[in-house]
Amino acid sequence: MKLLVTGGAGFIGANFVHATVRERPDVDVVVLDKLTYAGDRATLEAVADRITFVEGDCADTALVSQLVGDLAAGGEDAAVVHFAAESHNDNSLSDPWPFVQTNLLGTYALLEAVRAHGVRYHHVSTDEVYGDLPLADPADDPARERFTADTPYNPSSPYSATKAGSDLLVRAWARSFGIRATISNCSNNYGPWQHVEKFIPRQITNILDGVRPKVYGAGTNVRDWIHVDDHNRAVWAVLGRGRVGQTYLIGADGEANNLRVVRALLEIAGQDADAYDLVSDRPGHDLRYAIDASLLREELGWRPLHSDLESGLKATFDWYRDNEAWWRPRKAATEAKYAQLGR
Ligand code: NAD
Ligand code: DAU
Repeated sequence: MKLLVTGGAGFIGANFVHATVRERPDVDVVVLDKLTYAGDRATLEAVADRITFVEGDCADTALVSQLVGDLAAGGEDAAVVHFAAESHNDNSLSDPWPFVQTNLLGTYALLEAVRAHGVRYHHVSTDEVYGDLPLADPADDPARERFTADTPYNPSSPYSATKAGSDLLVRAWARSFGIRATISNCSNNYGPWQHVEKFIPRQITNILDGVRPKVYGAGTNVRDWIHVDDHNRAVWAVLGRGRVGQTYLIGADGEANNLRVVRALLEIAGQDADAYDLVSDRPGHDLRYAIDASLLREELGWRPLHSDLESGLKATFDWYRDNEAWWRPRKAATEAKYAQLGR
């Protein structure tokens, strides 16, 4: 099988490439990545001789058409897995343009290429396209509302609006042009190689630097955490056994509010669980995300392997402690950006 993986030098894409090389040695992987601030070739160093790396923009129609054409020439068993995106909500509030450019025009370029060359396409998307849900505690309210594939789209930020737009392009290309596409909408990922701008790595690296974690607002916002390897195993399940035209939601029943996560990280570090600062809130901050993944579980037989959030946080904390050389070059610039926002 031949795969074109866009965004393979970013967090989830790189974990996908590592897992694929490790577990599916018969798959030929070509990575297309623009190497924005969020992409890093060092992340792929250990597999560099097992993959083909192309530095370029997924919105470059000529380049994308050539790469997808090469893929198609290799035979029937080829697919594009589209991870590349501008992915951080806070950045989209400061400057939405790169989000429109990459998330909408990049997806458009890939859709036109798979249409022209008849290649299977999987679109990696987010639960944020559905907007947010009212706060609810799984322990008190097992029947609480969660997102399903039928939840209406209602994005809040420029990031989630451009991801929603990209999903709608995929649906239109599937219906009007018959491209062989699937979509997955996943909840918040954690694990190795996540940029230090994101919540969990930011707080781990703050703690390692002797800086108090920074929690937006009152810290009561809920995210539905999933280990990145579980997300990527679900992407493989959809790619292999998913129904063309179908949307699958990916989540591991990992709802936790931000205070619980920060307190757990402080405890892992052997510090006072209250040693964090509440800082100004993110504008338009979504309250709660929660996924009903029953279609993925029942139809494709997928199950998460990492079901205990605290032990996943401990492994992630240890990874950042042991891999400072990877994250250190980005830490100061990231914190300077947050300082300008007063967070
Ligand atoms: P990331 O920001 O860590 O990585 C994005 C990668 O895409 C980087 O390597 C970057 O260089 C590359 N890229 C950006 N613009 C590009 C362009 N124009 N052309 C080619 N490459 C480009 O993002 P991530 O967290 O790994 O997210 C990957 C995908 O998963 C995104 O589509 C995101 O919307 C989706 N997603 C993320 C999460 C999460 O919790 N992080 C959850 C659900 C879905
Ligand atoms: O739900 C999936 C989405 O999860 C993905 O589509 C996005 O690409 C990914 O970035 C993530 O979006 P969030 O906005 O939920 O993630 P982030 O890590 O930025 O923030 C998680 C929560 O933590 C959110 O409630 C905001 C809060 N937060 C974040 C930062 C960076 C803080 O309290 N303090 C912080 O310093």
